[in-house]
Amino acid sequence: MRRPQHEPQTGMPGRVTIYEVGPRDGLQNEKTLVPVEVKAEFIRRLVAAGLDTVETTSFVAPAWVPQLADSAALLGLLGEVGRGRNRPVLVPNERGLDAALSQGAQAIAIFGSATETFARKNLNTGVEESIAMFSPVVERARAEGLWVRAYVSMCFGDPWEGDVPVDQVVDVAARIMDLGCDQLSLGDTIGTGTTGHVHRLLDALDTKGIGAERIGVHFHDTYGQALANTLAALAHGVTVVDASTGGLGGCPYAKSATGNLATEDLVWALDGLGIETGVDLEALVETSVWMAGHLGRPSPSRVVKALASSSNDASDD
Ligand code: HMG
Ligand code: MG
Repeated sequence: MRRPQHEPQTGMPGRVTIYEVGPRDGLQNEKTLVPVEVKAEFIRRLVAAGLDTVETTSFVAPAWVPQLADSAALLGLLGEVGRGRNRPVLVPNERGLDAALSQGAQAIAIFGSATETFARKNLNTGVEESIAMFSPVVERARAEGLWVRAYVSMCFGDPWEGDVPVDQVVDVAARIMDLGCDQLSLGDTIGTGTTGHVHRLLDALDTKGIGAERIGVHFHDTYGQALANTLAALAHGVTVVDASTGGLGGCPYAKSATGNLATEDLVWALDGLGIETGVDLEALVETSVWMAGHLGRPSPSRVVKALASSSNDASDD
């Protein structure tokens, strides 16, 4: 399989942790129910391809995200592969935490919003009330020894409110992190962010005591900026990057959101920079093509398309 030429760049990290969100963010928006066995196989293949951290599913109200209503069955099917501190599940409230704990989850992600409108659309409650909802979740999760991630959505723009002031994002992020979370993931839910904005937000968070070592970045690729924004974040010291195999994804409560940064596109770029990820790109592309077959449409990932056609070129030789 074709590979990029290795040309390192100063100021970049030596290793990046890819936080794979394909099975959760990628699938949550699929209209047709994906069988639970297919989801389990998808996760097993991702892990086998070297993706160490995989967010597997969500313990949310089934009426809100019907596609992930099988979360308990999925973790039951996965057994040990679905457990551990590298297999977080989304949890909005104590009801979700109870369900996750009963399936042996050892890592959770709560998910807040920088804007009032999205908090109401996604969680049926305001920003203030949502933080109050998360507080006992984080407290209990920590008492149980769980690892806790905190997403903040709409960090770079909101489809209803437009521009989102950096100070507003920092304020919400700091309050959520103060609950006792281990990691903050900055969500560009609708993909409108650009590189200068990434630097500005990371600087502002740093000033508030939330350094790059506690931050992950979560870029949706709606405007084609996800990879550029990721590289900006890496240059700023971030080493955790969210991505979705095949570029699957979106958010059912933000129609203008499309897929996340494709994991294959990220691996290609990091490979070229000589940055270690532990991921076997060939196995990942095979998984992506396999999953696209189940979903009935090709992957939007440019790297998947290019590698598929370059392997055709090679077989013509
Ligand atoms: P609500 O309707 O206000 O909740 O929703 P409720 O307390 O009135 O409960 C309604 C029903 O749901 C009740 O059942 C509850 O028991 C049940 P009923 O009495 O009607 O039979 N229920 C639950 N069932 C299972 N698990 C639970 C749970 N909670 C309540 N945890 C709620 C409030 C927060 C539950 C709802 O709004 C919700 O589930 N929202 C989740 C939406 C979601 O998952 N969105 C996508 C993920 S966020 C995202 O994609 C962004 C991200 O990728 C970052 C980025 O891109 O920016 C993370
Ligand atoms: Mg997302």
